[in-house]
Amino acid sequence: MKTLVVDHPLVAHKLTALRDERTDSPTFRRLADELVTLLAYEATRDVRVVETTVNTPVAPADGVRLARPAPLVVPILRAGLGMLDGMTRLLPTAEVGFLGMIRDEGTLKAQTYATRLPEDISGRQCYVLDPMLATGGTLAAAIRLLFERGAEDVTAICLLAAPEGLAYMEKALADFAPVRVVTASLDERLNENGYIVPGLGDAGDRLYG
Ligand code: PRP
Repeated sequence: MKTLVVDHPLVAHKLTALRDERTDSPTFRRLADELVTLLAYEATRDVRVVETTVNTPVAPADGVRLARPAPLVVPILRAGLGMLDGMTRLLPTAEVGFLGMIRDEGTLKAQTYATRLPEDISGRQCYVLDPMLATGGTLAAAIRLLFERGAEDVTAICLLAAPEGLAYMEKALADFAPVRVVTASLDERLNENGYIVPGLGDAGDRLYG
């Protein structure tokens, strides 16, 4: 598994405002949306393209266009929904699937309550959206499901990640094809309640109340 922490002053600036407990929901939503677009730029560095040629008003120009089938974008409900528009702004032709997952706050285990994905995603590049990678249980389960359905490679885009969660995913997904995690920050640790420290609180609550 490869992890990329996007080191960019604009990302750091927006993330700082996002963490601030004084940031209200409308501003939080806007910042999350903007951050995803910045992270998506890095996360899609290996998106498949095919060569093409267009005619400019002056001469033919060699270029590329996105290969087919289009990438699959999968937000994990609920909080991942706050990242969808920022992602599809960059990849407007992407297909979108949905996973509803919730972490039991007692056991910290993830449960899946909704799955709406194309039946066969063989050979597809997939981008999973979830703002928080805490214990890693939610993302590992989501990514495993995508590989079981035939995904070729999976990139997770998170606003924040905890070292414990990355270590868990590394082990849990060791037998699967390439996985990448792209995040705006690798935070210090998890606290006794499984919250990322310093984190930003509960992303779902801050997005949707
Ligand atoms: C949060 C978050 C992740 C998960 C992270 O969702 O958005 O999906 O917890 O935890 P983990 O890495 O320890 O599995 P939550 O379960 O609170 O659901 P919500 O998005 O509906 O608020």
